[in-house]
Amino acid sequence: MTISRRKALGIISGGTILAAAGGGALFATTRTPTKALAPWAEAGGYSEPRRRALSYAILAPNPHNRQPWQVDLGTDDMVTLYRDKTRDLPHTDPHARQLTIGLGCFLELMVIAASQTGHRVDLDLYPEGEDGPVAHARFSEGAAADPLFAHVMARRSCKEPYEDKPVPAAMVDQLAAHAAIITDPQAVADLRTLTWDAWLVETNTPRTMKESVDLMRFGKAEINANPDGIDLGGAFLETLMLAGVVGREAQLDPQSTGFQEGVRIYEAMLMATPAYAVLTTPGNARTDQIEAGRRWLRLNLMTTSLGLALQPVSQALQEFPEMAEHYATAHRMLAKDGETVQMLGRLGFGPTVDRSPRWPLETRII
Ligand SMILES: Cc1cc2nc3c(=O)[nH]c(=O)nc-3n(C[C@H](O)[C@H](O)[C@H](O)COP(=O)(O)O)c2cc1C
Repeated sequence: MTISRRKALGIISGGTILAAAGGGALFATTRTPTKALAPWAEAGGYSEPRRRALSYAILAPNPHNRQPWQVDLGTDDMVTLYRDKTRDLPHTDPHARQLTIGLGCFLELMVIAASQTGHRVDLDLYPEGEDGPVAHARFSEGAAADPLFAHVMARRSCKEPYEDKPVPAAMVDQLAAHAAIITDPQAVADLRTLTWDAWLVETNTPRTMKESVDLMRFGKAEINANPDGIDLGGAFLETLMLAGVVGREAQLDPQSTGFQEGVRIYEAMLMATPAYAVLTTPGNARTDQIEAGRRWLRLNLMTTSLGLALQPVSQALQEFPEMAEHYATAHRMLAKDGETVQMLGRLGFGPTVDRSPRWPLETRII
């Protein structure tokens, strides 16, 4: 996430640090983490069908941008997908439910990309049970190109305030095939409150906050070295890092200006939400989670095609004890008895935002 000028000015509202940001234009042009973004430019640049499809699949949305995918290409015409357990999120995602959803997004993106070269992909999920590979994906000839592919390169999780403008009914109708869309003003207001309250719990619980802070990449050098996690880059943020306002220590200290401004910015963002998208599944098996990921990816491509912004807001769905009350509220509000809410997302009109970093495909092949 490159912080916007507006946000950065918010953080440095005291004015003293503003001077340090002078001469920013030249500095700004040098701060893009080009290496960390290279996989976006390299997508599609492979002739072997599996590698070509995978070069897009690694652009899938996934929690905390952990990119928990590992693939084995040892068998002809097959991709064996594993979850890289070194990338787990034990505090905020103790059952790896969200990570599994991210793997569902990856698989669906791979299937859509493969269809562009006429390849059909047959998925066998958890062929050896839950502890084995996530999927065997067999490539063969004979698929029609999926039109959603057109939106793969523009898809984002848009972590910005959205415009004060309703989502038109015609768009809601188009999205209804992909997710439950909530636009009722009272329900939207209740969800704003829930997502904000839940975000505060994650932020004020030291071990869950630390899990996020440990994954923050501060500035271009850190982002290029570890192109995953929560990327905090751009000239303004780097200026704040140089000034000591933003940094690993500050983000762990609730008394610091950097921490408090982060809270203020997040509240404003969560409140600027005109609608929500919700995905539920009847059960909560691994296969349900994969299915939810596949649906989320298609929803995100569809919102992209309509010019809408979408951002998962997962805190109320997290399964750590301090969150139990909000988890129960989310399920009361959004699911029928016995169902699991797999995804909750903000939906609306948002600005165009930057691509997020990715590890190169070669580093994910075992
Ligand atoms: C299961 C899941 C949960 C997520 N939860 C959140 C969240 O709570 N807050 C957020 O800002 N982004 C969330 N994201 C979005 C990721 O942060 C995002 O996909 C990742 O950083 C890559 O960015 P991109 O989607 O723009 O390519 C989630 C994504 C997935 C798949």
